[in-house]
Amino acid sequence: MPTLLRSILTLSALTVAYGKPQTGQGPVLAPTGLKKLTVGVLGDFGWTGWEPANEHFCNNVMPVLQAQNLTIPRSVQNDCDAGDRSYLINATALQESTATYIADVCANKDCKAFLSVGDNFYDSGVDFTTTGINRFQEAWVDMYSQGVFENAPWYQCLGNHDIVYGQSGVDFETKIAPLYDDRWYFGTQKLPYYTYDFVGADWTATFVVVDSDCFINSYQKDSSVYKNPYTTACHKTTQTQVDFLAKAFSESKADWKFLQLHHGYMSSSGNYTELDPLISIVKNHNGIVLNGHDHCTAHYYNNNTNFVLSGGAGYPQAGDCNNGVSLGPFTKFLGANSQAAANGFVTLDITADELVFEYYLRDMKFDGGDLFPVKNDMKPQYSFTVSEHAK
Ligand SMILES: *[C@@H]1O[C@H](CO)[C@@H](O)[C@H](O)[C@H]1NC(C)=O
Ligand SMILES: *[C@@H]1O[C@H](CO)[C@@H](O)[C@H](O)[C@H]1NC(C)=O
Ligand SMILES: *[C@@H]1O[C@H](CO)[C@@H](O)[C@H](O)[C@H]1NC(C)=O
Ligand SMILES: *[C@@H]1O[C@H](CO)[C@@H](O)[C@H](O)[C@H]1NC(C)=O
Repeated sequence: MPTLLRSILTLSALTVAYGKPQTGQGPVLAPTGLKKLTVGVLGDFGWTGWEPANEHFCNNVMPVLQAQNLTIPRSVQNDCDAGDRSYLINATALQESTATYIADVCANKDCKAFLSVGDNFYDSGVDFTTTGINRFQEAWVDMYSQGVFENAPWYQCLGNHDIVYGQSGVDFETKIAPLYDDRWYFGTQKLPYYTYDFVGADWTATFVVVDSDCFINSYQKDSSVYKNPYTTACHKTTQTQVDFLAKAFSESKADWKFLQLHHGYMSSSGNYTELDPLISIVKNHNGIVLNGHDHCTAHYYNNNTNFVLSGGAGYPQAGDCNNGVSLGPFTKFLGANSQAAANGFVTLDITADELVFEYYLRDMKFDGGDLFPVKNDMKPQYSFTVSEHAK
């Protein structure tokens, strides 16, 4: 990013930061007792402030070090990712425009909370270093601080980009961030998996958040940037998270049950079948899956289960939604066409009788073009309703 642009962005971020500090008052939670509660579901957003490793190092120095068998920290390898480096400028602008867009839609819809499906900070998450602290401030605290965001809690979740630093990255998001900003919620046990309920006037909804990174077999390969002592350990104990989900769902008498996680069991670009044990529990309870990872929005229905993909809040990628081409009858909606995927997110209205999911896609106008034309982007481009309760 050009230095001038960077300093303007930093300056505007600092200005925003002088707003209302929300630290040390205890967690902000979604309101209870409403007939209808509306929340926003979003993922794959955190690009702003990422500083990749420099090109000379990545292209010339790193290969020399590798030939000498020197260990390159995985976060450094990740910060050399050529694809992600090429996205950075656009991705940062897209995250900012989409944050404003979400705030506008959610002002209309009166969203009371946000549910993240992970990948909160590209490219390697945040850890307890000065860089990590400043990234957290810039890419999340300041980014989502105005209008409807000002007092809304975020029920967070880890994605693959959040765990590259291993335990220290996980600790930042699960233990430090909730104290840093009262709106950042990560359960009460300081663990990467947790459960929470929304309680309405005449309904209850149970959500279970897991760290799907632990389930992914390819992350255990030595060559994977996601292999570290944290993922190695939690891969051996995935049953803990499976049992946690099973217990939370069977002890819950809620009208609605949700699994909130990063990776997609159903996808247009790669199904993570390793998630099978989690999905069979969801299926048995008539639950609903909320996930991200693919950088687009979609609705899939398979295994008698609705899968809501909401990964379009940062850098959208048409290939992740198979360029808008359905792979089969399980695909109900894809927020993409042959040229582009749309930025956007999904709202969820919860009442006693039904759940309404609305897909909001941003009209992606820029100087001289429109990356994804949407006639009236204050209206949902797709929606579906669920009326069969959980069991
Ligand atoms: C690096 O490791 C490989 C494989 O173990 C070995 O063949 C090679 O000689 C090593 N290179 C150096 C510079 O030590
Ligand atoms: C960045 O966005 C411009 C339009 O603003 C587009 O033409 C270009 O292809 C994008 N580049 C990447 C790498 O996404
Ligand atoms: C995902 O699973 C569905 C249903 O089993 C299958 O039809 C589809 O081709 C799979 N998607 C990919 C990208 O492999
Ligand atoms: C979901 O359906 C597919 C067939 O489309 C099947 O292979 C898979 O085992 C089912 N998964 C669960 C959790 O039931």
